[in-house]
Amino acid sequence: MPHKTIRGTRFFWEEEGTGLPVVLLHPFPLNQSVWAEQRKALGQHYRIITPDFRGFGKSEGNGNFFSMDTLAEDVYALLNELELDHVILGGLSMGGYVTLAFYRRHPTRVRGLILANTRPQADDTAGRFKREAMTKMAELEGSGAVGTEMLPKLFGNATFRLNPHVPIASWRKIDSTSPKTIAAAARSMASRPDSTSLLPKITCPVLVVAGEEDSLTPPEIAKKMADDIPNSTLVVIPDAGHLSNLEQPNQFNQAVKEFLDKLEGSREINLLEDDFFDDGEDLFN
Ligand code: MLT
Repeated sequence: MPHKTIRGTRFFWEEEGTGLPVVLLHPFPLNQSVWAEQRKALGQHYRIITPDFRGFGKSEGNGNFFSMDTLAEDVYALLNELELDHVILGGLSMGGYVTLAFYRRHPTRVRGLILANTRPQADDTAGRFKREAMTKMAELEGSGAVGTEMLPKLFGNATFRLNPHVPIASWRKIDSTSPKTIAAAARSMASRPDSTSLLPKITCPVLVVAGEEDSLTPPEIAKKMADDIPNSTLVVIPDAGHLSNLEQPNQFNQAVKEFLDKLEGSREINLLEDDFFDDGEDLFN
């Protein structure tokens, strides 16, 4: 199991497969284990890397304040550690906020983006107030109470009806997250900047994924985000709420695989063209 001390913090990640590197960033207040089905299926074709953010899962945390930019810089340092010059970067919900922060800071390291069940807007005043209430709940009542409060918003009706074990497993993951990390991440999300003006400036291909039953980041938000990004594809997954990768893993994986296959195809064409021009230059030398 890969662990490494980076920027003074011991980070944990899992990975599966070889080839085009794809880094997937987890939602709040869960951890990288939510990507197990993606690692298994997509890892047959690509190198899928799933880190735990600081304080989450098996990565070390100290409960101090961090920003979405701090988490983006942690990912950047991990890419450097793994000697990955260019990756496909994807994130779900809070993972999407970090993905946008990363793109704002290091656009040249990204070949494509996946923005799942997320939004570019910053929190409004009411949203910030709710974050503060959640922070207090984590500190006073513990992480399980936060999980109980959040669960109905994280999953669609179809999941509660047909796959109740999925929300139950997620509640356990939330319960195992330290209240200090929950408080720090909630404050960090509350203070994140608005990324709406970044969207038209994104030059790489982007896959936007939405859950049809997502009440936290409804499909209309995903559609507007996709409309504002020049080279984007929108996929809305039926019978999925906010955690679409856990609720409908097959459909989620299919959407991501199609996106990656297309990117891989265009990369091979570019490499062939580079070879062709290299050969062409040789003719004149
Ligand atoms: C998440 O799933 O990461 C959270 O719902 C994000 C948020 O609370 O804004």
